[in-house]
Amino acid sequence: MSIIIKTEEQIEGIRQSSRLAANVLKYIEPFVKEGVTTAHLDDLMNSYIIKNGAISATIGYQGYPKASCISINEVVCHGIPSEKVILQNGDIVNIDVTTILNGYFGDTSKMFTIGEVSEEAIALIETTKHSLDLGIQQVKPGANFGDIGYAIARYAQSKGYSVVYEFCGHGVGIQFHEDPQIEHIARKGSGAKMKAGMIFTIEPMINIGKPRVTIDRNDGWTAKTIDGELSAQFEHTILVTETGFEILTIPTI
Ligand code: MF3
Ligand code: CO
Ligand code: CO
Repeated sequence: MSIIIKTEEQIEGIRQSSRLAANVLKYIEPFVKEGVTTAHLDDLMNSYIIKNGAISATIGYQGYPKASCISINEVVCHGIPSEKVILQNGDIVNIDVTTILNGYFGDTSKMFTIGEVSEEAIALIETTKHSLDLGIQQVKPGANFGDIGYAIARYAQSKGYSVVYEFCGHGVGIQFHEDPQIEHIARKGSGAKMKAGMIFTIEPMINIGKPRVTIDRNDGWTAKTIDGELSAQFEHTILVTETGFEILTIPTI
């Protein structure tokens, strides 16, 4: 197993796909409201992806049925959009989109809030967002991948939260999930060294209660907190540059 160093041409392709994935999250924002089904949001996003000349990477991925993951409240990740799931006042919602544009993958997710949300939920979301930012700031040639998880976990735990360790970030771009795995809780100085041209996701999942997750035995995908407490997540696709990093999943619309 080895970490791909992308060529200039590959980087530009992955940049375009990543921007499209970020644009999907921007496009869907006004529709993410109380009363809408998650299946409807998924349909809208799938149409937008196709209209922009791409396809969703998740449809058919290991049998996954939908164009996005929509994970509400205690769902940590991999919530499957459904006609039966209607967004409610007070919900916190992660939407995760991965696009394939001209063969290149871009992967991003963010949190949305529905109506009036508890202060506790807002604090969790802010901490999760900031923990991703701190993780991203570790990225530069010569840094170790473990530095990312160290920065994320140190901050999240200082605020009293726990860090999910059963799902990781990942290399991305030519394939959906490439080497390495990016741990969101790690020892400083552990792991491989970063080099310019590497591209990977950082996607911390932060919990109010215990870190453990349990997978729904009926659908085989939906990951929930073991104690039913809230979880939040943000994800960006990151390029290691000669001097530091570039966040590839920045919207352009
Ligand atoms: N987008 C997710 C990630 O960040 C993976 C979703 S796989 C799926 O890695 F099959 F659940 F869609
Ligand atoms: Co990812
Ligand atoms: Co993702």
